[in-house]
Amino acid sequence: MKEKITQLIARMTLEEKASLCSGVGAWHTKAIERLNIPAIMMSDGPHGLRKVIEDDEKGNETIEAICFPPAVNLASSWDRDLINQVGQTLGKECQAEDISIILGPAANIKRSPLCGRNFEYYSEDPYLSSEMASAHITGVQSQGVGTSLKHFVANNQEHMRMSINEHIDERTMREIYLASFEKPVKEAKPWTVMCAYNKVNGTFCSEHPRLLTKILRNEWGFEGLVVSDWGAVNERVDALKAGLELEMPSSDGIGENKIIEAIKNGTLKEEILDNAVRIILNLVFKALKNKKNSQNYNKNEHHLKAQKVAEESIILLKNQENILPINGSKKIAIIGEFAKEPRYQGGGSSHIKSFKIDIPLDEIKKLTTDAMVQYAQGYDINTDEIDNTLIDEAKEKAQQSDIAIIFAGLPEHYESEGYDRVHMKLPPNHKQLIEEVAKVQENVIVVLSNGSPVEMPWISSVKGVLEAYLGGQAMGSAVANLLFGKANPCGKLAETFPVRLNHNPSYLNFPGEGDQVHYAEGVFVGYRYYEKKEIEPLFPFGFGLSYTNFEYSDLKVDKTQIKDNEILQASFKVKNTGMTKGKEIAQLYVSKSQTTIIRPIKELKGFSKVELDPGQEKVITIDLNKRSFAYYNTIIKDWHVESGDYEILIGASSADIRLQTNVTINSTNKIKRIYHRNTTIGELMEDPKAKPIIEDMAQQIIDGMGLSDISEDNPAIAFNMMRYMPLRGLINFSKGQFTEEILEDLLEKLNRN
Ligand code: GLC
Repeated sequence: MKEKITQLIARMTLEEKASLCSGVGAWHTKAIERLNIPAIMMSDGPHGLRKVIEDDEKGNETIEAICFPPAVNLASSWDRDLINQVGQTLGKECQAEDISIILGPAANIKRSPLCGRNFEYYSEDPYLSSEMASAHITGVQSQGVGTSLKHFVANNQEHMRMSINEHIDERTMREIYLASFEKPVKEAKPWTVMCAYNKVNGTFCSEHPRLLTKILRNEWGFEGLVVSDWGAVNERVDALKAGLELEMPSSDGIGENKIIEAIKNGTLKEEILDNAVRIILNLVFKALKNKKNSQNYNKNEHHLKAQKVAEESIILLKNQENILPINGSKKIAIIGEFAKEPRYQGGGSSHIKSFKIDIPLDEIKKLTTDAMVQYAQGYDINTDEIDNTLIDEAKEKAQQSDIAIIFAGLPEHYESEGYDRVHMKLPPNHKQLIEEVAKVQENVIVVLSNGSPVEMPWISSVKGVLEAYLGGQAMGSAVANLLFGKANPCGKLAETFPVRLNHNPSYLNFPGEGDQVHYAEGVFVGYRYYEKKEIEPLFPFGFGLSYTNFEYSDLKVDKTQIKDNEILQASFKVKNTGMTKGKEIAQLYVSKSQTTIIRPIKELKGFSKVELDPGQEKVITIDLNKRSFAYYNTIIKDWHVESGDYEILIGASSADIRLQTNVTINSTNKIKRIYHRNTTIGELMEDPKAKPIIEDMAQQIIDGMGLSDISEDNPAIAFNMMRYMPLRGLINFSKGQFTEEILEDLLEKLNRN
């Protein structure tokens, strides 16, 4: 293939080469019939096939497809295999619909609960996000269909998304925002990566050489194609130079003409264009080679898969007095228009035309044939206005029932691609309905449909809360099965639910000011922040209940002391101590309490989901490597493990640690300190090798600084007063004894050490 592509490039005209670097329409690459180069089609994504029927009369109508639960739900399953299966299913659909690349997964980190696209992203934690994205990519690509890992990088808000400039420090970028993409790129090897709209530290992602070439390709070994987000290219030639091969959608010749002009006037080397063309042709012919005969697939089978995914991702947040699962209730009130008009997906480019939608009310009725089920609208999904007539009707029906199930959440216009939320509250009419019904019925269960966290001021007034998020087209049957015990909830939160928005670490810097936003919270995103600041969340990261209980025991590590380049294996047992079969998501966090680095208290570095029958116990093993313990050191510009003791924590959530053990790690990479004229006395005194040298000078320094009397009475004060004195400062306090020449000799001696 390589030779074939080289020959093709040699036969291409400049115009033909440039034409390949821009799409045709919104969804195809360019064909060149003369050279038998076909076009391939790409389509959104990420959690369903939004294939546009490109027919002028029909505008942007899309095919009927299966809307799986979006990433917010997928991540809440914490189930790599399940996500892989979703990927395989989508891959089969793409093959059947002649789609070569499905645009997803979206692996951006949830920096604020307000981001309009949080429903389409996995988590606040980069490890969980990267694991989910990797599973999705591997699943789709196992079917001979490509993916587009997006949006590279740090598309964490919709507000001014196409022009905002994000100020992100290097360590935060590496440990949080890039980390979510690094593992998928290195291990799952997406066919393409989609660049983000925004700027990072002053440069658009679409023309960011450091992101698109230095990091993505040279450091991470990415060999695929970089495609722009739709309309993300600022300057086409700069983008090509930075490592962006394909501009989407087509710029109708404008982008390619800029390329042609740049080649002709010598500002763009043709070898850069040839390299881009090579990458594009590699993709096109790879897609062609992997094309399978268009296979039909059974939509209803895929619908049932979507239902399974919803069941495995919906989270039981509250179950007071084990009010759930509902059994034996004879009179049930189903309240809220979402029970008839379910909110099951997000808005924007991921919006799927579902071929079928399970209606919660109908699905509940199927399971409660022997009960009296009453419905009350409760609110109008098209307005925030409180309708007391509807609320009174709901209260009356609740009063006539044993139990009231309220379907509430965020209407579609509250959150979407293209804009952010402005607060974390439910619509006033939803909130009022819950509060009013709870006044007349003590057995209230709330089923939430929302793409991102909401405040729950009524939480103490209800007995059950099921977080369905946006459960996909089959959420109605999934919710019914969970409510009535046909399925056991096993999802856990992949993001923290704060009590109030202003508890969130990005609160002071979201969405920024003008076209600038500062990621001032640094690595303290999500639970990393709430734990460090000891802010109690409404529901913590990793939290989720079950209809059964699990016991953890017997945590072991295969070595209690390792070098940073060795693998550590942790193992522990989880037992189902209840009466119902269930699945448990056990989480492994790493913590280092004694550290010289500013660090989160603990960080997720492993997890496993196990299914257990009542009484069954399984052993879980999790391997940890250097990156499980490392932080990104911006001095050596690499990952570094601090030598010392680390805690291995096993938890049912980030706030529910069940087991703990310690391990000592010896770093094989000693960071060489380079001393300079502004190195302080204190830094030198902390270095065992430098300390003796400085101590000899200490008295001279103290005398020179006029601290002699203090040092006699209290040496510690004298030391603290000279701790932050830079070496070059001694010149001013040594009465001519400490000169520039002496400083140079001293530095040479210190650095030689
Ligand atoms: C949108 C989205 C991106 C999507 C693309 C094509 O603007 O940001 O996720 O894949 O354009 O619809």
